[in-house]
Amino acid sequence: MPEELLVSPPGSEGVAPTVTAPAATEEPVHSVSPVRWMVQLGAAGLGVCAVSLGLFYATARGVIHRGDGPVAAVATPRVDPMAHVVSLERGLGLYAAQCASCHGPQGLGDGPQAEALTPRPRNFESGWFKLGSTRSGLPTDDDVARTIRHGMLPAAMPGWPHLSDGEVKSLALAVRHLAIEGRVADKLRRSPGFAREKALELARAALEPGPVIAMPPKPVTIDLARGKVFYESNCAACHDPDGRGKLREDLVDNDENPIAARDFTSGVFKGGGSLDDIAMRIVRGMPGSPMPGNPAIAADDLWSTAAYVKAFGAAGEAGRR
Ligand code: HEC
Ligand code: HEC
Repeated sequence: MPEELLVSPPGSEGVAPTVTAPAATEEPVHSVSPVRWMVQLGAAGLGVCAVSLGLFYATARGVIHRGDGPVAAVATPRVDPMAHVVSLERGLGLYAAQCASCHGPQGLGDGPQAEALTPRPRNFESGWFKLGSTRSGLPTDDDVARTIRHGMLPAAMPGWPHLSDGEVKSLALAVRHLAIEGRVADKLRRSPGFAREKALELARAALEPGPVIAMPPKPVTIDLARGKVFYESNCAACHDPDGRGKLREDLVDNDENPIAARDFTSGVFKGGGSLDDIAMRIVRGMPGSPMPGNPAIAADDLWSTAAYVKAFGAAGEAGRR
């Protein structure tokens, strides 16, 4: 229940958030009849529920716009008194409330909403993460936190711009924990005699993100014509010469579900639409989808192709006006 997150009292670190009557004990209540006071309290409680449910619904449905820029569209300003608290326990509580309906209670991608969705909500244990910044393809906790904040539109994965840093970082810990525990459970299912400690060690090592990619420096001038040449020989087969990604109908993801190459004219990117974001996707690819990595790409080709891709978005924007 999302409303719990809005009213959990400070100092309740490490315990599951509970709904408490805000500041009820500090108010002098002698002048108000107990019945009236209860009614007011009840009405206030309902108000909090309604606002937060509405906010949750609007965010989940993408009604509230989530862009790259600062978040301006959230209806109620929200201050989390525990913004500095990062803990696995906190993350798991938030996960159960906000994420399990799609990703399943154990993060196996099998929540009640999952069946209807393409692409499927990720099974974290699979180790496929489309977004991240490392050569290994496995995300750092910061990468996961960024994905949670930003969401993965146009897929069903919503962004969570209204959560505090402490909440988002705690959720990232929960995602890693579920991925590791999922692998351990899988190992022990297949080899029942295997030592849990050893399985845990193997799972941790297998999901270790390793070093972050050092991006090649941007050239002083970015040559769009060079980007066009690279794009046409390496990208257009999937993304189409016009960047719309409509022509290929045979692409499937690792779950064997059909997936379209991104329509660049929409300007919507799962991993963000800045030049640096697009360049990172080109170098690293998007594991779990057919989008390949280009780990050995030359700096000039990389930045000019990223700029060429970004320019489709600007053209799409102009076309919609
Ligand atoms: C409405 C369903 C839905 C909800 C709710 C949801 N997700 Fe997702 N999530 C998805 C889908 C669908 C994908 C797969 C997107 C794709 O592959 O393009 C995904 C992907 C992810 C990924 C994989 C990122 C990557 O790099 O591939 C992570 C991590 C994730 N979600 C975490 C979370 C967390 C944490 C929450 C709760 C705060 C959450 N999700 C809530 C649907 C959901
Ligand atoms: C084999 C087909 C294929 C090729 C070749 C390919 N892509 Fe992709 N690309 C995809 C698919 C499929 C997606 C969508 C993945 C998803 O939504 O999960 C994608 C997504 C992307 C995205 C979106 C990233 C985001 O954050 O949403 C970018 C940018 C991109 N590709 C750039 C390129 C560039 C540049 C090239 C050439 C250097 C290229 N792609 C080559 C299939 C391909």
